Amino acid sequence: MIKFIDLERQRKNLPIDLNKVIKEIINEGQFISGKEVSSLENLLQEYISSPAVAVANGTDALSIALMALNIKPGDEVIIPSFTWVSTAEVICLLGAKPVFVDIDTNFNIDLNKIEPKISEKTKAIMPVSMFGRCPDLMKIKELAMQYNLFTVEDGAQSFGAKSNNNFSCNVLDISTTSFFPSKPLGCYGDGGAIFSKDEDLLKKIMTIPKHGQIGRYNYVEIGMNSRLDTIQAGILIEKLKIFEDEIIKRNLVAQLYEKHLHKYKLITTPKIPSNENRSVWAQYTIILNNEIANKRDEIMSNLKNLGIPTALYYPVPLHTSKVYKKFNSEDLDTTMDIAKRVLSLPMHPYLTKEEIKFVSDNLISVINEIN
Ligand SMILES: Cc1ncc(COP(=O)(O)O)c(C=O)c1O
Repeated sequence: MIKFIDLERQRKNLPIDLNKVIKEIINEGQFISGKEVSSLENLLQEYISSPAVAVANGTDALSIALMALNIKPGDEVIIPSFTWVSTAEVICLLGAKPVFVDIDTNFNIDLNKIEPKISEKTKAIMPVSMFGRCPDLMKIKELAMQYNLFTVEDGAQSFGAKSNNNFSCNVLDISTTSFFPSKPLGCYGDGGAIFSKDEDLLKKIMTIPKHGQIGRYNYVEIGMNSRLDTIQAGILIEKLKIFEDEIIKRNLVAQLYEKHLHKYKLITTPKIPSNENRSVWAQYTIILNNEIANKRDEIMSNLKNLGIPTALYYPVPLHTSKVYKKFNSEDLDTTMDIAKRVLSLPMHPYLTKEEIKFVSDNLISVINEIN
């Protein structure tokens, strides 16, 4: 049975036994704000060349980013509708309004469709680097500067990716990521980080997750409790050591899928980015062509019977769901179309050539049988 994401194989590939790391932290007894947390922050900063603050999860990271920007009731924040719900919910939790923009066929916010949705109330543009691949962050930044808007990258899925040779999480005013276990860099629980090179914003980003304190009992911001725990930091330090190698492996997996699948007419494979635009392939997501899109459930179930897991990211565009449909839903045609046709295949650095061929061959034969 092939695994969609294989954390066990990853663990066996680590240079150190994580049980040892965890045991050491237990013996030290500093479960919150232990020395591993600041070591990790330094390593993250070194890796992408931007100051980093570790937090409890990727959703909090987004909330803290918007709090630091002082997003408040009545403000509007531009996001894609094709995303995980966190991107929208953090805006609503602050009483602000998500303004949904369509995606392009790379699953990222459509740069040409942002401008018409900017209003006098718009405060920020928050693109998502979907499935591990960034949109053109520099272009988004330029557009935002024209309108005096803040920019936040939801890089939950894209830590380690590159856009125009810049690392994801290093380009916009504030960037966030998630270390949820299945993410390209994942811990063994919840975790996340926030990045900013703006000194004033960074001060707030460092303060808010610690109840808004600078020093004990000195509350300077309305804060929250969102600290990354020491055990997760210890695990991430070890995983970071093999992360670059894993990104290379993920790209090889994607290239092999492309080799096996690109000629097959009934699906569209994801575009392989150029050198300066690196994907970390948080997902390998194909688009089913129209003739077979309505057979997606059957395709998934037949693949499952052959021991091949698949997943749907994301079948429900946020603007169509109960709580988010009261917000705008205009000009989201590509989002609606793609959500019906996406299918994510197993993707992790330790898939073998044989497994990739097995998935690809069976995908083709299952679709041929159904069609
Ligand atoms: C695009 C996106 N944003 C935000 C998050 C939230 O991250 P977390 O689960 O760590 O809160 C996720 C996690 O799946 C995500 O994919």
